[in-house]
Amino acid sequence: MHLSRLAMSVGQSATLKLNELAGILKAEGKPVVHLGGGEPEEKIPQGAYDASLKKLDTRYIRYTATSGIPELKAEISSYTEKNYGLKPSAKNIVVSGGAKQAIYNFLMAVVDPGSEVVFPAPYWVSYPEMVKMVYGTPVVVRPEPGKLLPDIQEMDRHITSNTRAVMLNSPNNPSGMIYPEEFVRELVEICEYRGVYLMMDDIYNRLVFGGASAPNAFALSKQPLNDSIIVSINGVSKMYSMTGYRIGWSVASEAITQAMVKIQAQITSCPSALSQAAAAGAMAEQGSFVEDLRVQLEKKRDLLISELKKFKKVKIHIPQGTFYSFPDFSAYEPDSEKLSKLLLDKAMVVTVPGKEFGLDGHLRLSYCGSEKDIVEGLSRIRKILDA
Ligand SMILES: Cc1ncc(COP(=O)(O)O)c(C=O)c1O
Repeated sequence: MHLSRLAMSVGQSATLKLNELAGILKAEGKPVVHLGGGEPEEKIPQGAYDASLKKLDTRYIRYTATSGIPELKAEISSYTEKNYGLKPSAKNIVVSGGAKQAIYNFLMAVVDPGSEVVFPAPYWVSYPEMVKMVYGTPVVVRPEPGKLLPDIQEMDRHITSNTRAVMLNSPNNPSGMIYPEEFVRELVEICEYRGVYLMMDDIYNRLVFGGASAPNAFALSKQPLNDSIIVSINGVSKMYSMTGYRIGWSVASEAITQAMVKIQAQITSCPSALSQAAAAGAMAEQGSFVEDLRVQLEKKRDLLISELKKFKKVKIHIPQGTFYSFPDFSAYEPDSEKLSKLLLDKAMVVTVPGKEFGLDGHLRLSYCGSEKDIVEGLSRIRKILDA
């Protein structure tokens, strides 16, 4: 039977594959430590729980408007006003099945077959495959060896007349780096001048440490939202520990939002009504859920860094946000796939090879799990590598 070229060319998600593997090993009773995870271990906020039950109690779980329910859009609008100083209307917002679907809506709305989408390495593992899924060409801009930030001139050099969009994820998965304000400002200018969209993947923008904040691209542009080339992506998965609900969103000009709504209507009709109610409940809660999670993650980040400092030859880049770190292990083994496999085989520790994020020599180590796992995982790795 025939499989499409797309089905045959698109890669499996490396991180989801590792999550499955960790689950299988655990179920087999193996003493595996999972430092490859991508979700907080916290329970969902009370507001999400209450709103889920309230909605379920109605026993009416129907289709909603394609772009989302008004209550959730109102929460997203307030969130955007509070965190970006800009109040989008309901016509600037699309609620989706996770930030992932919001990114697909965006890519499908702007990419023609063969047109290019530019993004820096290290990138979120899914970006290249997502661009390929819409028949676009991913164009990766790499930093100089030893660095995580590419020169802005290099970004500019890779943007051509065939470029439709630039994608930036800040704070960044896998490195935890916040792109400097000057870099984002110049990127906004370049994209506006060249007339290409700038997609800001802000899914970790509240999970930042040491008083830092991720530069807000909208504030670095003079364009009003409805003339803007900026498309901001966010969601409840990470900051509210609601990965399983699958709710994300985009904030953008009305013109591109309309195109994204048309696309989403033909793909899923609408996001789950139950999940939308839960997300609105989480966002309406006046409590300190996000701040408490942020504080927990900062503590875990500090713990991970202090454990990494015990290694003889690891080069550390201190994460400024997210729940990932991206240390350079190349002094031990430059092939990150080989190293990750060795650590799984010999130490039963799951890590993600840097190669999956476009930079070999590094490993992505998550600190969203328990403190015990962080200490145990790194001490097992050290026993193998520094023995
Ligand atoms: C950078 C980045 N963007 C988007 C997503 C997708 O988030 P969601 O679970 O809301 O689809 C993830 C999830 O890992 C991510 O790390």
